Amino acid sequence: MDSGFVHIIPSSRCHGKTENEKSYGEFDEERDSEYTFVSALSMNGGDGDNSYSTNSLLQRRVLAKAKPVLVKNTKELMIDLNFPNYIKVADLGCSSGQNTFLAMSEIINIINVFCQKWNQNPPEIDCCFNDLPNNDFNTTFKSIHLFKEKNLTSFESYFVSGVPGSFYSRLFPRKSLHFVHSSYGLHWLSKVPKGLEKNKTSVYITNSSPISTYKAYSNQFQRDFTTFLKLRSEEMISNGRMVLTFIGRNNMDNPLHRDCCHFWTLLSKSLRDLVIEGLVSASKVDSFYMPFYDPSEKEVKEIIGKEGSFEIKDLETHEYDIGHCNQDEAKRSKSGQNEANYIRAVCEPLLVAHFGDATIYTLFNKFAYHVSQHADCRNKTTVSLVLSLTRK
Ligand SMILES: C[S@@+](CC[C@H](N)C(=O)[O-])C[C@H]1O[C@@H](n2cnc3c(N)ncnc32)[C@H](O)[C@@H]1O
Repeated sequence: MDSGFVHIIPSSRCHGKTENEKSYGEFDEERDSEYTFVSALSMNGGDGDNSYSTNSLLQRRVLAKAKPVLVKNTKELMIDLNFPNYIKVADLGCSSGQNTFLAMSEIINIINVFCQKWNQNPPEIDCCFNDLPNNDFNTTFKSIHLFKEKNLTSFESYFVSGVPGSFYSRLFPRKSLHFVHSSYGLHWLSKVPKGLEKNKTSVYITNSSPISTYKAYSNQFQRDFTTFLKLRSEEMISNGRMVLTFIGRNNMDNPLHRDCCHFWTLLSKSLRDLVIEGLVSASKVDSFYMPFYDPSEKEVKEIIGKEGSFEIKDLETHEYDIGHCNQDEAKRSKSGQNEANYIRAVCEPLLVAHFGDATIYTLFNKFAYHVSQHADCRNKTTVSLVLSLTRK
């Protein structure tokens, strides 16, 4: 890709506060006192053995499965906007490592091939990579050459910038964005909800949780996802598109139902093992909860309808494929270790902020063991939801 050129502008955006940002500011104060560890949310940086970069094959598979929706929506956007000469695209929750540039490269290539096909001039593309400030942006931008190599069809220029900040706050000027992509970020909440005290010994909703736990989590997701939609609706132009992929759960009558092999259920078991061995106190485990929610398709549709700024174009449910069913003993243990590596890469900073780093190695050995004991389970609750939306 010789003719394309890249400008890297790591930028912090400053702006006046909207209503939503005010509430985010209030949440900041709350977070400082009560849930400081949530501000540690980030994937393991770098490219070492425990990094997200090395352990994100699952998320790469998810991106591949969502590709048809991405292709369709990118093409439709170009037609709806009558082949504009400038397009601003944001990838929200880009993380660091091998996956970071995948979706953006697809978008650039789809646009350029599509323009060629329709005999149109390709647009200049503004590529904005967002994640939380703790994200390893250094690793991301050091591997910018991979991005250039992927953008084989780009005959015109594209421009790259980093946008550190929460997607639950305003990140871009009004009516500036044409396309928003986000994969596997939106199941992370802005904070741990209040009112989980009765949910003892589990870090998330489980079959034995009180119903108040489900309500607390689903209310928090409702608030966060509504905020996300409202803020993006301010930033996006009319007819702009969003493709969002995140973890969800199958519609079930019982909102507390999670499979016995659910990753947070197995993490809870592993933490309890540490309590039994005297490595961590019970009260420390009892006060740790994941800032995470896996909504059903129905919940997602309701929130989008109620918020009102977007129209749903596609909503697909894909199997959550961790890839370790029905294996022999050796393979079970290997896949247990693989899943432990995936989960460690996404939540080690959160765990370290609450428990310290002394027990992490032991914790994930326990976790790998518990996964291997569930190798025959077909995970039926967890799914990936792929959603495309048009700004009305
Ligand atoms: C599992 S990674 C997914 C990374 C990449 N999109 C992929 O598909 O491999 C989720 C990313 O979302 C980011 N994230 C979570 N909450 C966020 C927020 N409120 N604002 C911005 N990024 C967030 C995390 O820091 C993390 O890098």
